[in-house]
Amino acid sequence: MKNIVVAFFTILIVGLTAWVAVNGGAYNGGIHGKVTEDIGNRTAEQMGTQSTHENKDDREKEMDQLNALREKAGNVGAFKVSDEYKSKCSSCHGVNGSGEQNGKKLMGPKLFGQTADEVYTKLDDFKAGRKENMIMKGLLIKLDKDDLRRFANEIGEFPARAEAVKN
Ligand code: HEC
Repeated sequence: MKNIVVAFFTILIVGLTAWVAVNGGAYNGGIHGKVTEDIGNRTAEQMGTQSTHENKDDREKEMDQLNALREKAGNVGAFKVSDEYKSKCSSCHGVNGSGEQNGKKLMGPKLFGQTADEVYTKLDDFKAGRKENMIMKGLLIKLDKDDLRRFANEIGEFPARAEAVKN
């Protein structure tokens, strides 16, 4: 009798396992599997309707416009900065000194709105070690006072540049 019960349950469990493996959600990625499948289908649909060159160009144009709008939506409008600001400072302080990018805070604080003298004093303090910051100090080691002045003057000009772009 005991053997029959054990055999019955063994067959039941093996059977259920096989059924779930074939049909069940869990083995097929569960809800994630369904979502992935969905996305796959949708991408295929889009490719079907948007495979021409024209549409691709349109989409790129739209992305450009969207990005331009995003820049404008921030409190700091997009304006031109020097190549040296772009390459040496913007990664941490933002392309326009806002201290953020696409709404996300960057490592460095906002510089926009500070006067040239304020910026110069802070840079000089970092360089001289009066203000402790390993990142800024390391960055300024290779720059002399003229360089600091140049960066400070440029950053001091940011608000005026933003105004000029707005008008
Ligand atoms: C790797 C990231 C990084 C880069 C690149 C960088 N900074 Fe900074 N900067 C920081 C951080 C972090 C602070 C905050 C330091 C603190 O207050 O302790 C800071 C602070 C400053 C401050 C003081 C701001 C304030 O209001 O206290 C100024 C001015 C400044 N940076 C200018 C510059 C300039 C100009 C450049 C380009 C030459 C530059 N930074 C490049 C990370 C960076």
